[in-house]
Amino acid sequence: MIAQSSIDQVFETARVEEVIGDFVNLKKAGSNFKGLSPFSDERTPSFMVSPVKQIWKDFSTGKGGNVVAFLMEHEHFTYPEAIKYLAKKYNIDIEETQQTNDQKEAANERESLYLVSEFANDYFQKILHKTDQGKSIGLSYFKERGFTDEIIKKFNLGYSLDDWQAFTDEALKKGYNIEYLEKTGLTIVKPDKHFDRFKGRVMFPIKSMSGRVLGFGGRILINDKKAAKYLNSPESDIYHKSKVLYGIYNAKQSIAKEDNCYLVEGYTDVIQFHQTGIKNVVSSSGTALTSEQIRLINRLTKNITVLFDGDAAGMRASLRGIDLILEQGMNVKVCSFPEGEDPDSFAKQNTLEELTLYLEENAKDFIQFKAGILHEDSKDDPIKKAETVRDIVNSISKIPDRIKKEIYIQECARIMDISEEVLFSTLAQINKKDFQNQNTQLKKEHKVFEVIKHQEPVKKVDVQYVLERKIIEILLLYGNKVEDFEDLVLKENDAGDLILEPIIQQAKVFEKIYLDLQDDEMQFSNEHFKNLYYTIIDALNQNPEFNLRMFINSVNQETANEITTILMEDERYALDNWNRMNIYPKEKLNTVSQLVSETILSLRCFLIDQKVKEYQQETLQNKNDVNKNILEEVKDYSGLKMLLSRKLNRVL
Ligand code: CTP
Ligand code: MN
Repeated sequence: MIAQSSIDQVFETARVEEVIGDFVNLKKAGSNFKGLSPFSDERTPSFMVSPVKQIWKDFSTGKGGNVVAFLMEHEHFTYPEAIKYLAKKYNIDIEETQQTNDQKEAANERESLYLVSEFANDYFQKILHKTDQGKSIGLSYFKERGFTDEIIKKFNLGYSLDDWQAFTDEALKKGYNIEYLEKTGLTIVKPDKHFDRFKGRVMFPIKSMSGRVLGFGGRILINDKKAAKYLNSPESDIYHKSKVLYGIYNAKQSIAKEDNCYLVEGYTDVIQFHQTGIKNVVSSSGTALTSEQIRLINRLTKNITVLFDGDAAGMRASLRGIDLILEQGMNVKVCSFPEGEDPDSFAKQNTLEELTLYLEENAKDFIQFKAGILHEDSKDDPIKKAETVRDIVNSISKIPDRIKKEIYIQECARIMDISEEVLFSTLAQINKKDFQNQNTQLKKEHKVFEVIKHQEPVKKVDVQYVLERKIIEILLLYGNKVEDFEDLVLKENDAGDLILEPIIQQAKVFEKIYLDLQDDEMQFSNEHFKNLYYTIIDALNQNPEFNLRMFINSVNQETANEITTILMEDERYALDNWNRMNIYPKEKLNTVSQLVSETILSLRCFLIDQKVKEYQQETLQNKNDVNKNILEEVKDYSGLKMLLSRKLNRVL
């Protein structure tokens, strides 16, 4: 168990924009930050982070919350894991009370898989650095490949003893369950025996974006035609090979900073690039690139440079992956290495300056690249050439942006020496075919859309809703502040006239709101807001130290989500909406007390208007029998409204 004092310290120190900034490329937008949602596949950013409120909101999926909620949602951390992650990031020492055996067992299955993998990662490194076999076989192999001690440690490279069950025995001895050793694939369980999967291999741990070990790649050191050169962890609850990129943890900051990501094929390519000084590099680890992998990069940058080994066959196969990148609206460049070289060998032989220069000079736009090699292949064969053209236009058709598409068509026409008209008509053909394929799907979606349209006719801004929401927001942000409130009271002056006189009273914001609403017998019309209102008032009443961070942290997930929605929704309302409707909150207010007063007054005005309308309606219906009482009431209300308007004007 983590001590409460440590949790508090973490919450006080962690900055939501810094933490999320490690995962999502955030751009300043007013007082907030904006980025592409990491939870959906979107092209226009709807993910917002508020440094002032210390919360985030993803408008595309409705998710939101504080910094811990983000880590739980994004990294699938448990609460304590999220706290520990933050503590590590901000160098906070965590005080921990010992876990009991029951608690250990209760840790869920995924957690157990993580723990076993973490243990294995430590173990393999220990073997590499501390044992004779590790040093003489594993470490000397890495040294031969030119890896420095520093880079070996940075990538947590390790070695698995050439022994049938050295690792498994050690893990069992340390109390790890065979069930999890098997599920992570570290141990192969046979009816009568256990085997270490990675026996006699050098080890490359594969990490998530946040640095958790998910699985391993192990390279064989002997020449054995029958055994695979690399052996990888099997799929498990924590390792999905289509969703990870080797090196992403060490690369993410550089990718965002350089606004470009190099994509290579192998583990050693990534490591050698780092050692040479290029850190914005990841690897798909020999498998075909997937949309999920691209999405990981897309959150950090819009630009990918794909680096190919210098063999033609591999290059052609990988060209297909590029269409997937284009589909996500990203910019793709391609660079190949001289025959017989891969990024690893090339980086090893060159300095940072030489490597950088090579990449600058040889990275080509993908269309140029693709058109270039395909053109080379087919220049004397008209039938093949037609196929090639279709192939390239097919790639171009994946680009979502129309202007970009056109530019590419022009470029392609030039390179392949074909008229633009032909290419455009080919593009139209492909689009038509795609359209037909999607048509049934589209029809279905269309129906859903119609239903939605039907249910929600063009939504007018509901004034009462907006004002009630505003009150909740004020309570959350400023509930505990002591402010001077100006009130106008009717007084008789020396001459005997009735005048309005301002008096100043000090009060806590939440007390002022509570008392004002009670005075007027105002009730929230929105049930959610009503419940929230009482929950917040209660919390404020009971705890003089109330603050937003602690409060969000103390309520259940659903309420926390409602709260963040309220706090962030605000950013979506345009100012002119307010003005048009005769309500006056300004975006930038001088004082909290003004904000409180005018919100409450606006709500009062609104409710009075409602009442007056109700009475008018009644009067109309009973034309013959004009009810004197109602007329009186309307007059009273009109008078009150005028009084309130004067107050409002004063406030403004
Ligand atoms: N790979 C794999 N299984 C194999 C072969 C390759 O998983 N049997 C993956 C590895 O991630 C490897 C990548 O594909 O890093 C590229 O393969 P290759 O070019 O053959 O390996 P290199 O990275 O060049 O490895 P090395 O230099 O160690 O031979
Ligand atoms: Mn290699």
